[in-house]
Amino acid sequence: ISCSNSLHLLPILTAILLLAGIVVLVLQYLQSSPAPTCHLPPAHSGQLKQANSSGVEQQTYKPIMLLWFWPENKRFDLHDCKTSFYSRAHNILVFHRAIQDDLSNLPTSPRARFQRWIWFNTDSPNNTRRIEGIKSLFNLTLSYRKDADIQVRRLLTFKNSDEEFVLPKKERLLCWFVDSDNLTTESGERYSYYRELINHMKVDVFHSSTKGENYFLTISSCKFYLSFEDSIHRDYITETFNGPLSVGTVPIVLGPPRKNYEDFAPGESFIHVNDFPTSLALAQFLLGLDKDQEAYMRYFNWRGYYTAIRHLTEEKYEFAHSICQACRHVGIFRKYRVVPDLYKWFLL
Ligand SMILES: *[C@@H]1O[C@H](CO)[C@@H](O)[C@H](O)[C@H]1NC(C)=O
Ligand SMILES: *[C@@H]1O[C@H](CO)[C@@H](O)[C@H](O)[C@H]1NC(C)=O
Ligand SMILES: *[C@@H]1O[C@H](CO)[C@@H](O)[C@H](O)[C@H]1NC(C)=O
Ligand SMILES: *[C@@H]1O[C@H](CO)[C@@H](O)[C@H](O)[C@H]1NC(C)=O
Repeated sequence: ISCSNSLHLLPILTAILLLAGIVVLVLQYLQSSPAPTCHLPPAHSGQLKQANSSGVEQQTYKPIMLLWFWPENKRFDLHDCKTSFYSRAHNILVFHRAIQDDLSNLPTSPRARFQRWIWFNTDSPNNTRRIEGIKSLFNLTLSYRKDADIQVRRLLTFKNSDEEFVLPKKERLLCWFVDSDNLTTESGERYSYYRELINHMKVDVFHSSTKGENYFLTISSCKFYLSFEDSIHRDYITETFNGPLSVGTVPIVLGPPRKNYEDFAPGESFIHVNDFPTSLALAQFLLGLDKDQEAYMRYFNWRGYYTAIRHLTEEKYEFAHSICQACRHVGIFRKYRVVPDLYKWFLL
C-alpha cells in the first residue's frame, strides 16, 4: 500500500485505530455507514465462549444491529469509549505509523490479562519506522505478510458464477499510474526500469492524483500495466498488481521473485520482468503479444476459475478491509500468543 498521501490523517487515524479493538465490541451495534468490505456472515460475527474442554472453540450467535441514523444527528465521540472500554476491551488495534516515538500516545494503564494488542502495519519494511520500546508489546500482527497472524492481502477468490470473462475494450498498449512528477530524476528500481523500457516501447503514464473514478476504467483500457512495486520485499504485492488483475489487464510485475507472486496468483496471469534478460526482450515480447490475440487471451484463462477483487480506492476506505479482517480474526481465534520480537520478524 502506498499510503504516504494520507499522512495528514494520522491524528484522526490514531484515535480511530486505537479504538478499533473496542470498536469490535461496538461496531456490530453502531454503524453509521455501510462498510463495503465487511461481509461478515452472521455465523462469523459471533463472540466466542471459552474453548471447551476438547479445546474446540465455539461461537455463539450475536446479532448485528445497524444504527441507521444518528438521532438528531447527535454523534457521540468515540473518544468517550476509549477510556470507558479500555479495561474491558479484549483487543486493541494499534496503527504503527501513529505511534509516537516516546510511546506517549499508547495506553498507559495496566493491560488486562485477557487483552491482546494487535500491531497494525500495512507498509513495507522500507517504509516502517523503527520505534524502540514496542518490539515486544504485541500479541498479534496484522500485515500484508503471509505469515502475519492477520493477513490482509486479498487478491483472488474462487469464482461463484459461470459468467464468461469479456475482455474490456483496449485502446492503449502499456500504462502506468505513478505519483512522481518527474520520471527522469527519480531513483529506485522501478523508475530505472521504466526509463530503459521507454527506449523500446511507448508507455502511457498517468499521475496518481488523477486516479479517482476513472482509475479502473483507464487501467482496463490498457493491454498491459506496469505493476512495479516501490520496494522489493517478500509478499509485498500491492494494489498496483491487484488493480490490473481485477479489471482484465495483464500486470507486468517488478517486485519479489516470480515464485512469490505465484503464492498469490496463477503464474499465467502476469508477466514478470525477470522472465526477460533485458527490457528490450520484454518490449519485443509485449509488442509480439499485441499482434497475437490468441496468445494474449491465454493470460486470462485463470478467469474461468477465479475472480480478482477490486481494492477500494477511496481514501477513507484505505484501511477498512484491514480493520474488518482484524474484527473477523478476533471474533474467531482467541489463542494465547505473544510476538516475541517484532522487528526480528518484520524488518529482517
Ligand atoms: C466441544 O465442542 C465440540 C465442537 O463444537 C463438540 O463436538 C464437543 O462435544 C464439545 N465438548 C464438550 C465437552 O462440550
Ligand atoms: C525533470 O528533471 C530534469 C532534470 O532535472 C529536467 O531537465 C526536466 O525539465 C524535468 N522535467 C519536468 C517535466 O519537470
Ligand atoms: C529500500 O529503500 C532504499 C532507498 O530508499 C532502496 O535503496 C532499497 O533498495 C530499498 N530496499 C528494498 C528491499 O527494496
Ligand atoms: C500479550 O502480550 C504480552 C506482552 O508480550 C504478554 O505479557 C501477555 O501475556 C499477552 N497476552 C495474551 C492474552 O496473549
